[in-house]
Amino acid sequence: MLRALLGAVAVAVVAGAQAAKGSPLIQALESAPAEDEARSILEPHLQDMKSMEKEAVELVVMRQWWALAREIVSKSHEQKVDLSFSVRKAVRSLKDEADELLRTLNPNYGMAQQVSPAFQWAQNDTSIFLTIKYTVRWNAPGALEVTDPSVNMTGNVFNFSGLGKHSNNKYKYFLSINLFDNIEAQLSSWSAASVGKLSVTLRKRWARKWPRLLGDKKTKVNNMHLWMEMQEKLDGSLSGFSSVSNSPVTCAAGGKLYCVATDTCKKSENCSQCPGKTEANEEAHLCAGKPSEKASLSFQDADMDEHQLSGEVKIHKARNDFDVDTYAVYWGKSDFAKLETSQGEEMLLGEVSALSNDLDLQIPQNSPIPEGATHLLVFSRNEYGEYSSPGSLLLRDAALPKAKPSGLSFEDEDGGKDLVKGRITILRAADEEKISEYSLHWGRSPTRKTTQNSFISTVKKEEGKDVSYWLSSQKPPDGATHLLAFSKNDFGELPSPVSFQVVDKTKPCVSRGEDSCPQGVQVTVDENPEPKQAKVKVTVTPAKSEEKIEKYRIFWGKKSCGDDVSSSSKNGHIRDVRKEEPLEVELAGPVPEGSGHILVFSSSPNLGESDFCVSAPFQDDQSAPKAEKEL
Ligand SMILES: *[C@@H]1O[C@H](CO)[C@@H](O)[C@H](O)[C@H]1NC(C)=O
Ligand SMILES: *[C@@H]1O[C@H](CO)[C@@H](O)[C@H](O)[C@H]1NC(C)=O
Ligand SMILES: *[C@@H]1O[C@H](CO)[C@@H](O)[C@H](O)[C@H]1NC(C)=O
Ligand SMILES: *[C@@H]1O[C@H](CO)[C@@H](O)[C@H](O)[C@H]1NC(C)=O
Repeated sequence: MLRALLGAVAVAVVAGAQAAKGSPLIQALESAPAEDEARSILEPHLQDMKSMEKEAVELVVMRQWWALAREIVSKSHEQKVDLSFSVRKAVRSLKDEADELLRTLNPNYGMAQQVSPAFQWAQNDTSIFLTIKYTVRWNAPGALEVTDPSVNMTGNVFNFSGLGKHSNNKYKYFLSINLFDNIEAQLSSWSAASVGKLSVTLRKRWARKWPRLLGDKKTKVNNMHLWMEMQEKLDGSLSGFSSVSNSPVTCAAGGKLYCVATDTCKKSENCSQCPGKTEANEEAHLCAGKPSEKASLSFQDADMDEHQLSGEVKIHKARNDFDVDTYAVYWGKSDFAKLETSQGEEMLLGEVSALSNDLDLQIPQNSPIPEGATHLLVFSRNEYGEYSSPGSLLLRDAALPKAKPSGLSFEDEDGGKDLVKGRITILRAADEEKISEYSLHWGRSPTRKTTQNSFISTVKKEEGKDVSYWLSSQKPPDGATHLLAFSKNDFGELPSPVSFQVVDKTKPCVSRGEDSCPQGVQVTVDENPEPKQAKVKVTVTPAKSEEKIEKYRIFWGKKSCGDDVSSSSKNGHIRDVRKEEPLEVELAGPVPEGSGHILVFSSSPNLGESDFCVSAPFQDDQSAPKAEKEL
């Protein structure tokens, strides 16, 4: 292309120079009959070549006044004027003319030789991909481009022609292929954009795997190749397809009609044996009939008002929508029956061509749902009629729940500080119709969720029942003061919740030295001389505040009570003392191995015993003689 363009420019410039009759010098040179006259015309200008028109030099060369041209060039060197561009241009133009003259000596030159270009092909489920190279053999170099590219497609025929030049020869590339099956010309495309090649994408009339490219098995085309590299990439989309054996094209070759259902060719009187397609269509070479496959639908109502719809109904066509021309979408009163108006008319929502790329239908904002409509139905149609069985979709009218739960309750059963657990009870909403579940959140107020980690859980609605949720022991997120319960469904959450203020219940003595910790414990000296036997009196000094306390719990201990919360020093339970009982108790009995202390904890009625304790050392009196015992 670049070369051709430059050539064209050069010719145009020379022609322009000749046409520029304006300049007297050029005019005079043009009318000069011979070199001598031209020399006298130019003589006055040769002293100042800088101001001389460059066209004059070109003209001298084109007229082939070689001696004069050489003189001018040598003078230009003396005057340091660069004429090389003009000279080269004119010389090239002359040379081209001369070369063309030589080529014309070839009697066939100028007549484009018609050749069949090499090509390769691949397929996916819906398309055939062709690359046509402007050369006869795939691996041979060829023309870089073609002029007048032309592509015609009808039925199963693909024709291409284009003119190209290569190695001083002109070629007319012409390719005509009779494909295995029909193609959709309007949905097919081609492009001459890449160097030396034409890229073509043919849309198959029916999406399926062809066993070969050509209609006639016996046709031999030696510069046709399978496009392996491409086919390997496309094989994924063909997995699950097995090659068909016939098509209307192959059946027509034998004077028969194609039966899709059985993938066989039938005589036209035998279409009655083609399942579902019993009408002979000689023109299309097809046993035809109503469609026999249905599409499916998907739709999500985007209109949150009750009894109103809007949004996009998407039609998902049947994999083998061979003979479907359009898909018609109706309001349905069941998953198979169309809804009718009071005048008995079917209620069509819209009809979409099966060939369009986006099979969808818009339902405008605020479209009312007709009385009695429960489904959307999609029917496959063609010129023979409608497939009786539709694809269906249950209508789901998007709307928020109408009522919040009527109550919420919770009692903290975790005695830990800042920790809560317990059963959350959600009282059922007065109107449960649009509710599918309740969602539980932490709230920073009776109406607003905490800014972070508010979500606790969803709880399924149980028609006519209160529901509950077990909150396992946890620390509520920052700022949480309430529990909130929202009514919810697939379309959203009713913004207004029911709430319950959370009270963090704690057991006594959750930190050291609190008023609910026992103030102290005293232990008398062991009065039992037997080893590992004790007889002591333990006196507990009660807590300053006994409000949360039900009893004190006394244990053997391996260590004294420290600042760390750890129960690991307990070495066995001794006894419990209710707070209203005397806090001075006699202890007599065995001492567990390793016990050097007596520990006292305070304990609440239902939240368990304290984390911290008070203690006193215990020394086991082992003075009794033990020899007899060992016998
Ligand atoms: C394609 O080319 C063939 C062979 O020249 C010709 O018979 C046919 O009519 C052409 N078809 C189209 C669609 O151009
Ligand atoms: C396509 O059709 C046009 C109009 O009939 C014709 O001029 C042209 O040559 C055809 N091209 C091919 C490749 O058959
Ligand atoms: C087959 O190729 C066509 C054209 O490139 C493309 O639109 C379609 O998505 C492909 N099919 C699959 C299953 O990838
Ligand atoms: C057509 O049907 C007749 C009767 O069933 C049968 O004998 C004949 O073989 C069929 N012909 C074809 C081409 O299927």
